[in-house]
Amino acid sequence: MPQSDRLATAIASQAFDLPVTGPILFIRATSGPALGLIGPGRLLCEQSLRFAHDLLGEQGFEVTPRAEAPVAAAIVALTRSRAENFGNIARALALLPEAGLIVVNGAKTEGVDSLAKQVGAVLPLEGQLTKAHGRVFWLRRPASLPEAVDRWREAARPARNADGFFTEPGIFSAEGIDPGSLRLADILPGRLKGRVADLGAGWGWLSLSALKADPRVERVDLYEAEARALEMARLNVTDPRAGFHWSDVASLGRGVPPYDAVIANPPFHRGRAAEPELGAAFIDAAARILKPSGQFLMVANRQLPYESTLDARFKHWERLSEEGGYKILSATRPRSGR
Ligand SMILES: C[S@@+](CC[C@H](N)C(=O)[O-])C[C@H]1O[C@@H](n2cnc3c(N)ncnc32)[C@H](O)[C@@H]1O
Repeated sequence: MPQSDRLATAIASQAFDLPVTGPILFIRATSGPALGLIGPGRLLCEQSLRFAHDLLGEQGFEVTPRAEAPVAAAIVALTRSRAENFGNIARALALLPEAGLIVVNGAKTEGVDSLAKQVGAVLPLEGQLTKAHGRVFWLRRPASLPEAVDRWREAARPARNADGFFTEPGIFSAEGIDPGSLRLADILPGRLKGRVADLGAGWGWLSLSALKADPRVERVDLYEAEARALEMARLNVTDPRAGFHWSDVASLGRGVPPYDAVIANPPFHRGRAAEPELGAAFIDAAARILKPSGQFLMVANRQLPYESTLDARFKHWERLSEEGGYKILSATRPRSGR
């Protein structure tokens, strides 16, 4: 059962009393029945993933990548990042008035059970409901917030990781440089020139490598769907040749001036299972935005089946290397169909 169905059940059964006036913030909101129950007039959705953000906007909801203004009540949908979840709860509490309601909704796989215990240990829970392999719990903001809440907020703030780069919990490979990106960076020197695009640029390490790889590189455009990651990339990549784009790579195409080279370490899962179609959409986008003479370079886990998509979108492709569980693929002569 999707998160919002569990939440919709709780709202429809009036498990808690949402305030009758004032804005209701929904952190990590995704479209679904719960939003419809509250209605667009009351909700302020926070969503930093571009495609989910845009879908909410199209459905008539007010949506922002990061909410800052006080609200009457807040809902927090959990992600798989424990530190991000605690940080989101702490931010929500800070935006509430005394006795303001905060509702947290998550799946067991997102650690909702232990999170409810830990939150309940410092802030008394008003109620909870378990359903569909998950839990909704709610509480009210006390007049003064316990110290633990400050610690949750601090732990979720941007900080330098083990490799010295700015990241924040919840974004891809926040703890350090991704081994796949390291392998792709190894083969970049001497292969790049002119205008380069990095698809799914994350916090920017691969783009930094591209900027250093060859003096002929004139520009590197970072395309990233997660605004939180892109904010970190802005801190890490200070070269004036870098451009930053909060965008869904799957819809890149028209209006983008063509590139001499495209590099990517594409995403391959949203949940636990591999979803090769995510990477396939990146290959498709690369073919759309490359010059006819351009080159696409990507890294992928060895077992991911991208070869047929490369065949369909490029007249020529080859495997440059395969080691340590990763393969580096190069493709040229994109097939037309921008
Ligand atoms: C495997 S990570 C690589 C990140 C970065 N290049 C690195 O090497 O650390 C893939 C990145 O693609 C981003 N992403 C996922 N889907 C996307 C989409 N549709 N459009 C743009 N970026 C996307 C993810 O947020 C993630 O940062």
